[in-house]
Amino acid sequence: MKQKLFAANWKLNKGPKESNIFFKDFISILPNELQQQIIFFVPATNMESTAKSLEGTKIRFGAQNCYSQVSGAFTGEISAQVVKEIGAQSILLGHSERRHIFKETDDFVAAKGKLVQSLNLLPMLCIGETLEERERGKTEKVCETQLMAFMKSIDLRKEWVVAYEPVWAIGTGKVASLLQVSETHTQIRKMIEREGGSPQVPILYGGSVKPENSKELLAIPEVGGFLVGGASLEPQSFLKICL
Ligand code: PGA
Repeated sequence: MKQKLFAANWKLNKGPKESNIFFKDFISILPNELQQQIIFFVPATNMESTAKSLEGTKIRFGAQNCYSQVSGAFTGEISAQVVKEIGAQSILLGHSERRHIFKETDDFVAAKGKLVQSLNLLPMLCIGETLEERERGKTEKVCETQLMAFMKSIDLRKEWVVAYEPVWAIGTGKVASLLQVSETHTQIRKMIEREGGSPQVPILYGGSVKPENSKELLAIPEVGGFLVGGASLEPQSFLKICL
């Protein structure tokens, strides 16, 4: 069976001191032979301290966003090249908070994907529908539009990851039903293959994943792991989801 991938999205939480404490605790409770792949998407301001904390472990880390160019007059933006220089391996792209709060478009997210891959970093694309879109029967179309824009821009021979996160399930405690997750993941898998993407591209689920619901979600064949927000902020709860 393919290794599952577990990603933590800390959003705008924890400073360097708090994240150092977290990683000390997390590493101390990790089993010796860790089979799972784990990536922490930490705030950009914690990336250097995270690099130090994770030195010598197999745990990867990354940024929650980057700009579509590596340098220039772009006040306040994050350079993927610097993210790489710090030692990160991945960048989260198109998270629903980026799309909805910061009005990022599919094309903008797609341009970032291309840049991230050109630096040999792993892009993790987030896609997903709002509650209104689901109620109007638009889930498949919304996922397809977000996915196609990205797939047209990246190199499909290089590694990339998709995280399906229904917007209405993020941070709300409302997890999608097993049937909804299974149906949508199967649709996404078909779209990826139809467009010439590798059948190995992991499709993660995200949205109110907790230790209490993670096992049944992970048993769905197309679920390749999780992107976890709230429940990744505490070492024990995130580790329970990963193991
Ligand atoms: P949540 O967040 O697990 O708190 O719902 C998931 C995410 O935003 O990636």
